[in-house]
Amino acid sequence: MLRLAVLISGGGSNLQALIEATKDPDFPAEIVCVGADTDAAGLAHAEAAAIPNFVVRPADYASRADWGAAFAAEIQSHDVDLVVSAGLMRILPVGFVAAFSPRLINTHPALLPLFPGAHAVRDALAAGATETGVTVHIIDEGVDTGPVLRQATVAVRDGEREADLHERIKQEERPLLIRTVREIADGTLDLAAVASAARAQ
Ligand code: GAR
Repeated sequence: MLRLAVLISGGGSNLQALIEATKDPDFPAEIVCVGADTDAAGLAHAEAAAIPNFVVRPADYASRADWGAAFAAEIQSHDVDLVVSAGLMRILPVGFVAAFSPRLINTHPALLPLFPGAHAVRDALAAGATETGVTVHIIDEGVDTGPVLRQATVAVRDGEREADLHERIKQEERPLLIRTVREIADGTLDLAAVASAARAQ
């Protein structure tokens, strides 16, 4: 059973989808902790499922690096195999990435390398994209630059508002994230091999 940490900043609908998936006894992973950088509404999903959860606030630390070290230590105390950033709206410091790489993945609401950053859905609309989507990727030292694992495409509707498009992206995102975690857990997807192939390019 793969031991997951899930990291969030917001409502946690992806977290909730993962919690539901792990209720299936055949699902090869379990969520052993949920971490946040703020009092995220989504922590209520962890509470409701009796999953240990914690908040490590950057404002409580002298530097980003110190915050990252404290966040990593808290996660490591739960003996995790894979860290899943599912709506964590903060760039992880290099020390944090090094602590878990390559067993550290993120879900992002765009077809990377297009539209990285915190406003991916807004940026896709502003660019007049006719399609966008979701990417699950390994986190590296850059911002949304790590090797792509899985993607799903979503067609943009004429005049669509950001919130509506984001919600439709999330409808693709939740099953894609669950599928990707399943593939990592059952060995279909080998993160070390993907990361080393990316480095060799
Ligand atoms: C998700 O769409 C995720 O891809 C996005 O935040 C949303 C969180 O939704 N993450 C980013 O934009 C990171 N750059 P949720 O809290 O309902 O799971």
